[in-house]
Amino acid sequence: MRVLVIGGARFVGKQLAHRLVLRGDRVTLLNRGSQDDGLGAAVERVVADRGTDAFDHALAGRTFDAVVDFAAFHAADAERASRVLSGRVGHYLFVGTGQVYLVRQGCPTPSREEDYDGPLMAPPEDARDHAEWAYGVGKRGAEDVLAEAFERTGFPATRMRIPVLHGPGDPHRRIERLVARALDGGPLLVPRPDALVRHVHGPSLARWMVERLGDTRWIGEAVNVAPESACTVRDMVSLIADGCGSRAARLEVEPELLASVGWRAEDVCPFGGRWSSVLDPSRAVRSLGFAHPTVDAWLPGVLDAVLAHHDPVPPADVVRHRASELALARRLGA
Ligand SMILES: NC(=O)c1ccc[n+]([C@@H]2O[C@H](COP(=O)([O-])OP(=O)(O)OC[C@H]3O[C@@H](n4cnc5c(N)ncnc54)[C@H](OP(=O)(O)O)[C@@H]3O)[C@@H](O)[C@H]2O)c1
Repeated sequence: MRVLVIGGARFVGKQLAHRLVLRGDRVTLLNRGSQDDGLGAAVERVVADRGTDAFDHALAGRTFDAVVDFAAFHAADAERASRVLSGRVGHYLFVGTGQVYLVRQGCPTPSREEDYDGPLMAPPEDARDHAEWAYGVGKRGAEDVLAEAFERTGFPATRMRIPVLHGPGDPHRRIERLVARALDGGPLLVPRPDALVRHVHGPSLARWMVERLGDTRWIGEAVNVAPESACTVRDMVSLIADGCGSRAARLEVEPELLASVGWRAEDVCPFGGRWSSVLDPSRAVRSLGFAHPTVDAWLPGVLDAVLAHHDPVPPADVVRHRASELALARRLGA
């Protein structure tokens, strides 16, 4: 296949491009060229900002069997892509997010594709929550343009909705954040311990996307892509801490307690926060043969990668916050 990957130089996009190259596809990466994709001479590179006319010029007259778009965040991004690629792409796969449900007022959990429609919540006042809200609303804007383009002109878009991703090279360094806390001796603060975690393993996602590229069964559809099995925040923290050999104590805390000192769950743990969607993947499982490994099957490989290659200095916000976390844990009797 001739495949255009919009993005493709960072995380799952890079893993997907690598798989395409290995199976013999002709791969073009389009991004702004800010990082090394590590794929050498195996791919064609187009340097352009997808939000500018440089995108139109770079792709003028080109055709692709498939396009995978990892860098569409707003309606305008989808409008440009569907206009420029109209009639010249066999399958356009939009990488979206489960956050489209979290910004929906009163959306049920686990969320199904049909739960998408409905009124949106008002913009939150907290700047960090506002950024998360804007991300979900922006992705909805992109989705709505693509759904409309399919209805109106048959633009062959699939809208994937994905919850939080983990894996080697995760730019958000979520698992690494917990590993750093687990290995400094702890204790670990565990917010909303009974909340469900149904996150995706990036390399497994890349594998499945490559297998389903060009599959006409999901053209025009919105599809949740998430594991069928879930665990709790408590289990996830234990799996990670035990998996890296930590004996750190775990201290369960309710978000209200954290809020009383001005913190959110995300400030102390990469799990248990408000912006972590839980999706029902029944449609993908039933109609597209989606299968995802259980967390105990994929986590050891990710922990190995984190411990073998991670930056020895934890993310700056963890370093900054850790002393206050430990002081709170001591006040709580740890
Ligand atoms: N990480 C998660 O937990 C998660 C969960 C659900 C969905 N997602 C979605 O996954 C996607 C990102 O995944 P990834 O990091 O694995 O993708 P990736 O394709 O490996 O990396 C993102 C790429 O997008 C490029 N890019 C960003 N802005 C661009 C622009 N204006 N014009 C052209 N290229 C641009 C970046 O390169 P340059 O900066 O050099 O341009 C980079 O190559 C996003 O759509 C995100 O919403 C992520």
